[in-house]
Amino acid sequence: MISLISENSMRSNINDCVILTLNKIHNRAGNITIVEGNENIPFDIKRIYYLYDIPSGADRGAHAHRQLRQLIIAASGSFTVMLDDGINKKEITLNKPDYGLMIVPGIWRELKEFSSGAICLVLASKEYNANDYFRDYNEFLKWKSSK
Ligand code: TYD
Repeated sequence: MISLISENSMRSNINDCVILTLNKIHNRAGNITIVEGNENIPFDIKRIYYLYDIPSGADRGAHAHRQLRQLIIAASGSFTVMLDDGINKKEITLNKPDYGLMIVPGIWRELKEFSSGAICLVLASKEYNANDYFRDYNEFLKWKSSK
């Protein structure tokens, strides 16, 4: 089991967001990848959602979370995730169903450049809570710089 990475979400930075290589069981009939909370990812899974039928050129995300951890998987196709900790930014393209990008709390993210038919699968550590979101970038920056 991967140990739980503890960090203060106000102090988290983009390097805390890592790509996890998930196991892939391959046979002649195709592949299967299994994700188990607190086993091969470092949090319990409380919620799953997925983005699909994303129109060409559309962007998603543009928010940060105070507490929520997520694992983002390109279950089909590809897309790019821009991560921003208020100081540094980086972009990661996801294009393999056996790779997951773990996003820790306190990171602004934007999802873009979805390929046609892309499916963005998100495993989340908590139930939906609108109060956990920063949707205003300046508010997010103010919070990050108040650490
Ligand atoms: P939002 O988080 O803005 O989507 P994205 O970041 O992918 O662009 O969510 C879109 C809408 O769905 C918004 O009205 C909130 C709602 N929603 C829920 O009700 N429950 C959920 O678990 C999620 C992720 C979103």
